[in-house]
Amino acid sequence: MLQMTDDNAISQEISDLLDVLDAASLIIDNQGTVIRASSTAIQLGLVSSNLLVHRSLSELVGRARASRTPMDAEFELVTGMRGERSYVYARAGRIDGKHILLLVEDRTEARRVDETRRDFIANISHELKTPIGAIGLLAEALVEGADDQDMVKRFAANLQRESIRLANLVQDIIQLSRVQSADTSMNFGPVDLAGVIHDAVERNQVMADKKGIKFKVSTPQGHVVYGDAEALGMAIKNLIENAIIYSDESGQVGVGLRSVKGVAEITVIDSGIGISVEDQERIFERFYRVDQSRSRQTGGTGLGLAIVKHVALNHRGEVRLFSQPGTGSTFTLRIPEVPSQLTENGKDKE
Ligand SMILES: Nc1ncnc2c1ncn2[C@@H]1O[C@H](COP(=O)(O)OP(=O)(O)O)[C@@H](O)[C@H]1O
Ligand SMILES: [Mg+2]
Repeated sequence: MLQMTDDNAISQEISDLLDVLDAASLIIDNQGTVIRASSTAIQLGLVSSNLLVHRSLSELVGRARASRTPMDAEFELVTGMRGERSYVYARAGRIDGKHILLLVEDRTEARRVDETRRDFIANISHELKTPIGAIGLLAEALVEGADDQDMVKRFAANLQRESIRLANLVQDIIQLSRVQSADTSMNFGPVDLAGVIHDAVERNQVMADKKGIKFKVSTPQGHVVYGDAEALGMAIKNLIENAIIYSDESGQVGVGLRSVKGVAEITVIDSGIGISVEDQERIFERFYRVDQSRSRQTGGTGLGLAIVKHVALNHRGEVRLFSQPGTGSTFTLRIPEVPSQLTENGKDKE
């Protein structure tokens, strides 16, 4: 805390009171000198040589000095040595004849969360519009072409495809919101990964058969993590689904499980189209697809890997990716294991 000791000094009571506040607090005298600044105010880089650094804050203090009532405003400030942008809410008011109290609340994080949420909602609306629009047009065409049997069949098939796409999208949006707000909506407990992987493979069997893709699965028992079985299953299912979709016909998809230094590693390997280095950084973003039209054809939502990433984070784990365009991709979901002596069916692992 910065405190000048002269006859300008403010009372100990006020000083103690300010220490309790969460917001950065500053007391400024009639000359504009900062006579007290909390450590948060200093950390935020609001004061330099006993003066307020930011003009917007000095102006707010000026307005408060000229007024009987406190003044408040929100600002974007460039702060600190690295010139970071902070969003702050500031409030200034007279505390006695001589001093102004300035409170500054850092709202950068809240604002970031807000922005992400707004982006997500904007994206969702955009993504929903496509299938909903298509369904509307197809229904119209069906009515107009009702006499033509062939046309009816074709439009009806398209309608079905669009409605499946819509259902997938809504389902993925729900799943993603669920794993994003992990603390409230997940059921954590010991999960044996072999069973979860087995289910995830099975759920992709029909799709694999259609493409003539064979699975090579190796899932030893006894790898137990503390987690939500449904969420883990969904993440693994998404990885296997991608491995099938982004492979050529008659390929092979490998699914493995092992532990490395107390971390369970679930690997999904394909020899498909692969992912360029630039795209490797982006594919975990919501709605990002390397090839929009291909993803649309296959009914992808662009949310699969965002779900995988969040499931990994919720389980204090991570996803690793190794890929080369034209050669294939290996996704590794890494989740800390429950030490085997703590699990009933624990076995020694390599
Ligand atoms: N195994 C893979 N091989 C090649 N590209 C992949 C693979 N998995 C994901 N991708 C790329 O990452 C994008 C995002 O994946 P995902 O979030 O599952 O969305 P989608 O619904 O499009 O499959 C895909 O559109 C695709 O371009
Ligand atoms: Mg996918």
